Amino acid sequence: MQKPHVLQITSYPAWDQIALDVTYTMHGLWQNPALSDIGPRVQAIATSGGAGVASEIIQACPNLKLIAIYGVGYDGIDLALCRARNIQITNTPDVLTGDCADLAIGMMLSLARQIPSADLHARSGAWQTASFPLQRRVWGARAGILGMGRIGQDVATRLAGFGMDIAYSARSEKALPYRFIPDATALACHADFLFVTAAATPETRHIVNAKTLQALGADGFLINISRAANVDESALLDALESRQIAGAALDVFDAEPHINPRFVPLQNVLLQPHHASATQQTRRAMGQLMRDNLAAHFAGQPLLTPVL
Ligand code: 8YV
Repeated sequence: MQKPHVLQITSYPAWDQIALDVTYTMHGLWQNPALSDIGPRVQAIATSGGAGVASEIIQACPNLKLIAIYGVGYDGIDLALCRARNIQITNTPDVLTGDCADLAIGMMLSLARQIPSADLHARSGAWQTASFPLQRRVWGARAGILGMGRIGQDVATRLAGFGMDIAYSARSEKALPYRFIPDATALACHADFLFVTAAATPETRHIVNAKTLQALGADGFLINISRAANVDESALLDALESRQIAGAALDVFDAEPHINPRFVPLQNVLLQPHHASATQQTRRAMGQLMRDNLAAHFAGQPLLTPVL
């Protein structure tokens, strides 16, 4: 029997690649396959949350029936186009929630307590001549969570362990033991630590902007583990350079993997290489779930985690 043709947008760990190659004829986009030739044979596309799929690629694959995402975000895919073409989409929710929340907490602590610089201070011997400056207390502070989906709720559960006063913004109030502040600027005003965990949609584009940052204020920290599009990056750089906010910890960037060079000299930022879900265990679970969705599709079974 012929193996189904799957177009692959990004690379995967070897354990996933080997398993995919056994079952499917994989076409890596980075190998520059002639889309006019393979496009009509492609029945499914495998991609990641960050990479998505360009609409031209979807259009070049007239027999495409499924886009399987290794990741939770589907902002990089034109949903209207997929609906119109009857293309289903799957993602990998739940399995990555805990890791994303863990990194958000790690970023908050690293930023407020300046853990990377303190490590350098101890490591370099600078400690022998000067004590490391005092830093900001985290426990008991006020937290704002922008976007109260699975990841936002897991961040909140962890923050409760730090005795923090937790508020959140979401499309609507949820049955949760935290204060609901619908407006993002009002939430920033409440927060010492503002976490952005919202899925990126046209409505959330630049929801953190110059006004929000002004409300966050000189003692406020921003932590973004969602998508760069949720934050106006140039307004953020202005706020960081002028110390209008205390600092920012960022896992996502407008031009990632390229980082705006204005971030590099700043002491009040902590930068991460889009790594929130990047543990061995979670990436294995994400790969398995993506492959299970592909397998269900080709077996004519219900998809495990459909987005569309
Ligand atoms: C991953 C993500 O880094 O889930 C998402 O939407 O962006 C991340 O978990 C990515 O999908 C894997 O490359």
